[in-house]
Amino acid sequence: MSQSYTCLAPAKINWFLHITGKRDNGYHELSTLFQFVDLADELIFTKIESKQIELSGDLSGVAAEKNLVYKAAQLMRKHFAVNLGIHIEIKKRIPSGAGLGGGSSDAATTMLMLNKLWQINATEQQLLELGAKLGADVPIFIYGQTAFATGIGERLTPSEQPEVDLLLAIPADCHISTPLMFSQPQLKRDSEIVAPADYQFATTRNDFQPVVKEMQPQVAKTLQWLIEYAPSRLTGTGACCFSVVSSKQQAEEMARHAPEGINTFVVKTLKNSPVHLYLAEQFS
Ligand code: C5P
Repeated sequence: MSQSYTCLAPAKINWFLHITGKRDNGYHELSTLFQFVDLADELIFTKIESKQIELSGDLSGVAAEKNLVYKAAQLMRKHFAVNLGIHIEIKKRIPSGAGLGGGSSDAATTMLMLNKLWQINATEQQLLELGAKLGADVPIFIYGQTAFATGIGERLTPSEQPEVDLLLAIPADCHISTPLMFSQPQLKRDSEIVAPADYQFATTRNDFQPVVKEMQPQVAKTLQWLIEYAPSRLTGTGACCFSVVSSKQQAEEMARHAPEGINTFVVKTLKNSPVHLYLAEQFS
């Protein structure tokens, strides 16, 4: 039996998300600050004799070929002309349709791991460009550090942000479609680009928040509850909201008293992605 490699693919939050323009191809220009949190999917990679890409575990009833992990492996194999197989078991912990980037993180982690396991030796720049083809949120997970992003989310500048406690809160059974949110006519599209040195939570926004609150009353309720305790905001296109609590104890207390129908996670923000620490440990 071949050795298995168990890797954590973290979720992200957007501390703020300003929409600053729209490109001719329909994609939106953003100004955002990404940070990883310690809620993570688990991906287990095992080299196999066959030349197939095999997936097992939590596939959420979707055909393997439609999974971003499969697409990432397929893209690596094609782009770098590799003729090897891999088995990847997926243990999902990050809710999907939440704005936490779970699928993008799994895809980026797959690219980073296969770069090592298939001995491709692609540069970070090559992986960043390839990752952007899979989705606008994939590059930040390849990059692996807290970063300000512009462009469609692929122009990244590192940013030092402290490790803080958060409470994540997601209305149960509320999955939001990213393209649907980007296509809403009432979305503000002329927000300012935030200069990294000037970032303050109180003077920034998530431009999706008013739109999502209007379309999904459960999100409005969730935010209303969180805001009673601490500064709170939507992440990505939602439905997850985060609350900047003063301590882990406060987050645990809030989680214990969460209104019915709201799922909560007590988490901490991270300086770096655990994937990069794992790669350094295993392959250097
Ligand atoms: O890149 P990703 O597949 O995550 O994006 C899904 C959809 O969201 C895109 O097809 C596009 O409609 C919209 N989107 C956008 N601008 C972005 C990111 C996503 O308009 N920066």
